[in-house]
Amino acid sequence: MSNLSSQVDNPLFNNALDYAFSTLEGNMQVLQDFPESCTGPEWTTIVKNRVPSNWVNGFWVGQLWLAYGHTNDERFADAARQWSDKLAWLKDSVGTHDLGFIFYLSHVIGARLTGDEKLYTSALQAASTLIKRYNSRGEYLQAWGTPLPTGTRKDRGRINIDIMMNLELLYWATEYSGDTRYADVANQHARTSRLTLVRADGSIAQVGDFDPDSGLFIHEETHQGFSFDGCWSRGHAWGQYGFATAYLYTGFDSFLETSRKNAQYLEKNLPADLVPFWDYDSPDIPDTYKDSSASAVYACGLLELANCESRIGNQSAAEHLQKLASTMTESLWQNYSAKDTPMPTLLKEGARSVPHNYMEQALIYGDYYFLEALTKLTRPELAMKAFPEKHLTYKTT
Ligand code: GLY
Repeated sequence: MSNLSSQVDNPLFNNALDYAFSTLEGNMQVLQDFPESCTGPEWTTIVKNRVPSNWVNGFWVGQLWLAYGHTNDERFADAARQWSDKLAWLKDSVGTHDLGFIFYLSHVIGARLTGDEKLYTSALQAASTLIKRYNSRGEYLQAWGTPLPTGTRKDRGRINIDIMMNLELLYWATEYSGDTRYADVANQHARTSRLTLVRADGSIAQVGDFDPDSGLFIHEETHQGFSFDGCWSRGHAWGQYGFATAYLYTGFDSFLETSRKNAQYLEKNLPADLVPFWDYDSPDIPDTYKDSSASAVYACGLLELANCESRIGNQSAAEHLQKLASTMTESLWQNYSAKDTPMPTLLKEGARSVPHNYMEQALIYGDYYFLEALTKLTRPELAMKAFPEKHLTYKTT
């Protein structure tokens, strides 16, 4: 974290943190499986046989680690260790790009807070598995399915903007091991995403379709958005956060410019309560669903962009971004908190995927990023420990 001002005494944020710890404590007693979404008194969980490597599985563990960091309560650390162990087998699973989400939150953050080298070792193995999904013709990490030799042609030719958030595991792996292959893949993937998914106005397509053998880009697509040429808000948030992260590690200006453009698009299109509709191009706005999880991701992504600006001396831009992230987090707590509902969650009104009919749910990733934003806004020392300065000391290409 930079020298941006902390809000350690903000009563709203301190109430939100207290509420988060008691909610997590309750969940810790009852959960038998990884939580995903919620509309009533119990979480809907991931049934292992349905999707063994579900992308959401790190968010619950990441929250437990952060709760431990805030409270020093060993019960949170014990639970986080046990849940991390349940994920360790995925380090060799080449079938998902989401190893970044899963291992960065469950293993890297846990290792930073406890010094447990075993967690780092598994995370490094996961990074080695993740780069097996790299298509060197198209210079991208494949989004869905398995790579060669088993992957289908369609799967091998698709990227999505969500992958930008998986690159941090690769940057961390280079920093930790000194092996630049990880960051080189991350840089190439980020460049390809920037060139094919990010548009001149700062909006972002969710999916890109390629010819996997020639590597040529074919067209934009979507999976959870309204249309191929529209802009799905959570995906846009993944991109804005992911490009800021890529800049912080590498110092490549094109990544900073991209995250800035994304943030400008966001500011132009945000509703008054700072929580976006599920897709900026939905024809039903304002009579359609909000996505509180997108707002929670943006709050964290804007704080990272503030760190970029602060690092290069743009203090007024940094303060503006930090204020926006802070007001967004306040709005989430005041208008989207689940505290007056039966749900054992932090936020309500997330939109997992409107085209698939999953909306108006609490989402585990919304809760995780809300806690990450609260942590970064209020506890600079803990934030420095869990999310230390991103800056590669190795030269990458
Ligand atoms: N990465 C999938 C999603 O954001 O829903």
